[in-house]
Parts: sequence; C-alpha cells; structure tokens
Amino acid sequence: MSSVVIVGVQWGDEGKGKITNALSTEADMVVRFQGGANAGHTVSLNGDPIVFHLLPSGISVPGVRCVIGPGVVVDPQALVDEIDMVAEHGVEVGDNFWIDVGAHMVMPHHKAQEAAEEKARGKGAIGTTLRGIGPTYADKHAREGLPIGLFADFDAFRERYVAVASRKNELLTKLYGAEPVDIEGSLERLRGIADRLRQHLADTPGSIRDALSSGKNVIFEGAQGTLLDIAFGTYPYVTSSYTTAAGVSPGTGVPPSMIGKVVGIAKAYITRVGEGPFPTESPDERGDAIRTCGHEMGATTGRPRRCGWLDGVALRYSVDINGADRLIITKLDVLDSFETLPVCTGYRIDGETTTRFPRTVPELARAEPVYEELPGWKTSTRDARRPEDLPAEATAYIKRIEELAGVPVAAVSVGAAAHAVVEFEDIL
Ligand code: IMP
Repeated sequence: MSSVVIVGVQWGDEGKGKITNALSTEADMVVRFQGGANAGHTVSLNGDPIVFHLLPSGISVPGVRCVIGPGVVVDPQALVDEIDMVAEHGVEVGDNFWIDVGAHMVMPHHKAQEAAEEKARGKGAIGTTLRGIGPTYADKHAREGLPIGLFADFDAFRERYVAVASRKNELLTKLYGAEPVDIEGSLERLRGIADRLRQHLADTPGSIRDALSSGKNVIFEGAQGTLLDIAFGTYPYVTSSYTTAAGVSPGTGVPPSMIGKVVGIAKAYITRVGEGPFPTESPDERGDAIRTCGHEMGATTGRPRRCGWLDGVALRYSVDINGADRLIITKLDVLDSFETLPVCTGYRIDGETTTRFPRTVPELARAEPVYEELPGWKTSTRDARRPEDLPAEATAYIKRIEELAGVPVAAVSVGAAAHAVVEFEDIL
C-alpha cells in the first residue's frame, strides 16, 4: 500500500496543486477530502497556468481516477464551469472523475447568507472567499444540508431544496434584511446541472479502500492549510473544514489505520489571505518584494496576499498536528535576491520566549517573532535540479528548516514548471 496525504502546513497557498499534479503521474487515484471552491490550486497545463478550484489536481493526467470525497463541499455551478474550462484546454472529464454522493452542495442561499454575515460582522469580518463554504458546512452539521447524491432523483432533491431554501429565505430577509434567493429560478438552473453531473455520482469510500488494499498509489489532496483548520487553526480566522491529515478519514471514509505517509507543503516564506493574526508578517518593502516576485495574489479571489518570513514555530506546530513525515518546500527561488533571510525560531509573549504556538487569537496577536538572520544566496536557483546544484546558503536554509520542523525536507520547488523541482528523496 502506498498512499500519501498532501497537506498545507501554513495558511494555504503553499503550492499543493503543483506538487499533487507532479506526483499524479505515478498515482492511480487522487482524492480531495475537504474544502470546496475556496481553494485555488494552480497547475501548469501544457505550459499554461490553470487554476483548479474543485477538480483534483490529477485530472489532467491520463489514467488517474480523480475523486471528490464526501468531506468536500461542492458548488455544482462552479464544478460544471470548471469542467468546461478544462475541456477548453483539452482535458476530458469523463469516467475518470467521481463525486461521492455524500459531498454536500453549496447552494445560492449559502452564498447569500455568507455575504450577509460577513457584512454584519463589520470590522470583525473573517475575510472569507465568499464561496459559501462556512454556511454549507454549518448546514451539513445542523442537518439542513443537501448532499449531492440527491441529484440522482431530482424530485427528491427539489422537495428538500424547497424546504431548506424557504427557511433560509426567512433568515435572509428577516434577520439580515437581504434579498431572498429565487428558489424556482435556481431549481431550473440546477436541473440542467444535475443532468450533467449525475454520471459522476458514486459511492466512493469502498473503492478508495480497495485501491489502498491492493497496493495502488493514492494521493489525498488537501486544500487550504493547517493554520486555517477549523479545530487547530487561528479560530475564528479559519475555514470551516478539517484541513489537516486527520480530515482524510471523515472526508473519504478511509480509516486512520489505512492512511500512509503525510507530506507537509510549506513555502520557503509564508503568506496569509484574509484577516487574523500573522506574527511574521512583513508589511514593508521586503514583504512587497516577496509579493511581486512570488506573484502572491489570491488564486480564487485575486486579493493581494499578506507576506512574511518563514515561521518555525508555526511550522513545527503544523508538522506535529499532521504527523507529517516529510516536508516539501516550494518557491525557494522567490528568495533568490535577498541579502539576508529572517527565520522565526520562537515567539516572545508577555515577556517570555517560547516555541509553543498559541491556541487563542488574542495570545497569538501578542506574539512577537524572535528572528535568526540567515545569509541569502543572491543567485538564481531556478535551474537547480539536483541537491548539489543549490548554493551552499540555500542548502543551509533548508537544513535550518529541517531542524525547526523536526522532519526532513524531501524536495524543494524552484519555479512554476512541473520539472522545476530538486528532489532529495522519492515521495510515493
Ligand atoms: P472561507 O474558506 O472562504 O470560509 O475563508 C476563510 C478563511 O480562509 C479566509 O481567511 C480565506 O482567505 C482563507 N482561505 C480559504 N481558502 C483558502 C485558500 O485556498 N488559500 C488561502 N486562504 C484560503
């Protein structure tokens, strides 16, 4: 059995899509287990950068079965739009793509609710992607949700949809003074979408377990990052799903005992989109230089990402929560021009120095990073393909990351192209 969970160990946008896509050439199955169209996984397709929001990043690799697991929330309109978009790039989405019947759907009322709630939060807004993620997971847990399996019988879907959307319209109009959603108009659109997606509906957990038992290579593709996890992230500035490796079980129906390696993906620096504390943020010209050089604009919302220095405290916390065996460091090349590189090795909180990652937002907001300055390498790493191609300072930087994280770095990515990777060891 060879399976690997790919998880982000920062605040998302670590480059999981590129790594998953690269590993997919050796995979039999790629499974998304949480999140939804809030994700933006950028993959290079025939030289063009393509952003996947819902389709697993292996979808362009022939022979790979791609699965949306029951832990994902699916915006059916966004999904058919994405299927059409990849078709324009020559990628056929057919029998190779399954959507688990238990995945809940993001409906127009979820997006309307989220817009109203973010507005009502005012200064306390979370800065969500407005893709309806929070309300959809909340309704799933409140037993007001709409699993996509209902699309198998549109009349059954209609009955439940009308009931829940009518209740939601009461909330929208009476509590928030917002416009109600057009239930009949939505149903008309959803009928056509259901007709298109029905062929992909499947009962997937048994097939994933069978693939694992028969030794197939299965990749569990995480979205967002550990610090956005609903349980262990910087709550309430988090997303609404379990973004850690532990999310694989409820998100796929694969028991913990069958989950294999866990690989954490981290950028050589760190970014955050949306609100919430960010101890190593560099809101100055050096942060701007990272943003420009690293093209740090949100892949889903186009918002500029907040940029900062590698945070060893947060990294160690994420590695431990995920039980990550290995790290892959992405975007090392973005740091090529810096004279020195601050790396956070601890926090000072209320006069004490600690390597503990605070579990509450007020405490994290008080954390001041303790930095160690490492020498930069001031030379391009973009053409490096073997460990010995890296400048000594870059190798020392990676070594320091390994020490702080407590696990080895298996590979380093040095550019957007799929082959722009320096591998230290095999992953799958
Ligand atoms: P939501 O997931 O849209 O509810 O957004 C909650 C928080 O997670 C916001 O701060 C978003 O910016 C952040 N977020 C959600 N998805 C991603 C992602 O794929 N990358 C980075 N941040 C994300």
